[in-house]
Amino acid sequence: MQQRAYYVTTPIYYISGNPHIGHVYTTVVADVLARTARTAGPAFFLTGTDEHGQKVANAATAAGKLPQEWCDDLVPRWQSLFAAYHVAYDDFIRTTQPRHERVVQRVFETLRERGDVYLGTYEGWYCVFDETFWLESKLAGGKCPTCGREVQWISEDDWFFALSKYGPRLLEYFRAHPDWVRPKSVYNEMMALLEEGVEDFSISRTNFDWGIPIPGGSGVIYVWFDALLNYISAIGWSVDDDRFHAYWPAAVQLVGKEIARFHTIIWPAVLWAIGEAPPELVFAHGWITVEGQKIGKSLGNAVDPFALADRFGADSLRYFLLREAPFGSDFSYSEEKIAQRHNNDLGNDLGNLAHRTLSMLQRYREGVVPAPGATPVLARFAELPQHMRTAIFDLRFRDALESAWDLVTTLNRAVEERKPWALHKEERGAELDAFLYELCEGLRRLAILLHPFMPERMQELWRRLGIGETRIDDAWESAFARPLAPGTHTILGDPLFPRLDLVGK
Ligand code: MSP
Repeated sequence: MQQRAYYVTTPIYYISGNPHIGHVYTTVVADVLARTARTAGPAFFLTGTDEHGQKVANAATAAGKLPQEWCDDLVPRWQSLFAAYHVAYDDFIRTTQPRHERVVQRVFETLRERGDVYLGTYEGWYCVFDETFWLESKLAGGKCPTCGREVQWISEDDWFFALSKYGPRLLEYFRAHPDWVRPKSVYNEMMALLEEGVEDFSISRTNFDWGIPIPGGSGVIYVWFDALLNYISAIGWSVDDDRFHAYWPAAVQLVGKEIARFHTIIWPAVLWAIGEAPPELVFAHGWITVEGQKIGKSLGNAVDPFALADRFGADSLRYFLLREAPFGSDFSYSEEKIAQRHNNDLGNDLGNLAHRTLSMLQRYREGVVPAPGATPVLARFAELPQHMRTAIFDLRFRDALESAWDLVTTLNRAVEERKPWALHKEERGAELDAFLYELCEGLRRLAILLHPFMPERMQELWRRLGIGETRIDDAWESAFARPLAPGTHTILGDPLFPRLDLVGK
């Protein structure tokens, strides 16, 4: 039987404005997961854009454009941003694509036939910014409890989704699968909502028309109902069953914590209603904050992610995002912190290890990898690949990086202790050969293991090690079984992570 692919998704991003570093964050995390999964088997990584709804329509109107025109103009910006951050997704879905719209309409019809979608009257509060309905009791001082904006009163005949029917099953599922929503804090928060009880909610809108038309009716489908279905429309639900089942249920769905409710309460219920299983894991991560506030264009604290990639290097940013905090927690963003990570971990530790190894090789061995001998340090780190893979699949990226950095520091320390310059002076050639070989092979292993995190820089390190222009060897097990060949010509080159001056200092 074909091995089921490791399917990882990001939320699809509203294109109501320009992308910011928060959007890069989730996408880069998904990229690290997908790249790691590909070292062991098939993977599928989906991202995309959420193009319907009032928020996008309002943004288009404000720019004097038709919504479709606005989306078409903006999508390339998102795609080029992800390319700038070396993100290798397998598919980019847009909710205005016919392949998606068809599936949404089919789901709607299926649910209507089953009675899970029915006609009723909706009256209540709505926040356009969050595209969310709110009960009066949930409002904070009459405003949206999530973003603090004004809410509007809506009264219309709508189609409803029978979420309440799934309340008991949701509770049961949560109890039986205590790890399906992580981190624990979010699981507990969702459990509390379920214990309070869930209500049916409207999945159609009639007061504007930028959405997928209700089949055989008037109005459009509620943007969240439309958007959630991207995860299955992209992989051929109801169109190509074999393909769909090669991916679904997803191994992990990444979301920001503010949208955990949609993905852990509404989403599994919709999936059950169409006879499908929930994803294996929903991981709701924390926010990147500036002065305690979530980065986001609307808060006026967005940082241009293109400029950041130019200034620090996209791979340094990727490293920062995954190394700075345990995945799941909020962390504050500052250029100073990025520069510190870049200069210390990347420049002084890893970059220096590469530079001094390759320089010594030039100096003592004309750049050619010598014959191997004993590799005591590497022997101690034999379990590193398994260790890193386990940590990454467990979404403990910081731990994974720290364990790789153990090897970096140990090798740097070994240079101080073994003093290759003294070995050279004392003409202890065989010892020097063995040590230089160990350093080169150590770098090769680091390039392989850190490739999911820093694909461009590690490919460059691979090239410097003289392994050629070939793509870095991604199959970890076989790559480790075939160590660096003696006689390989290495290239010194400029530092991999040139030192940056701190902002304004
Ligand atoms: N369109 C909906 C999602 C639909 S999924 C079926 C949406 N879009 S969004 O553009 O507002 O952004 C969603 C995601 O961007 C968040 O869930 C999160 O993953 C990421 N982030 C946005 N701002 C962020 C931070 N400041 N920090 C970390 N992640 C951030 O919601």
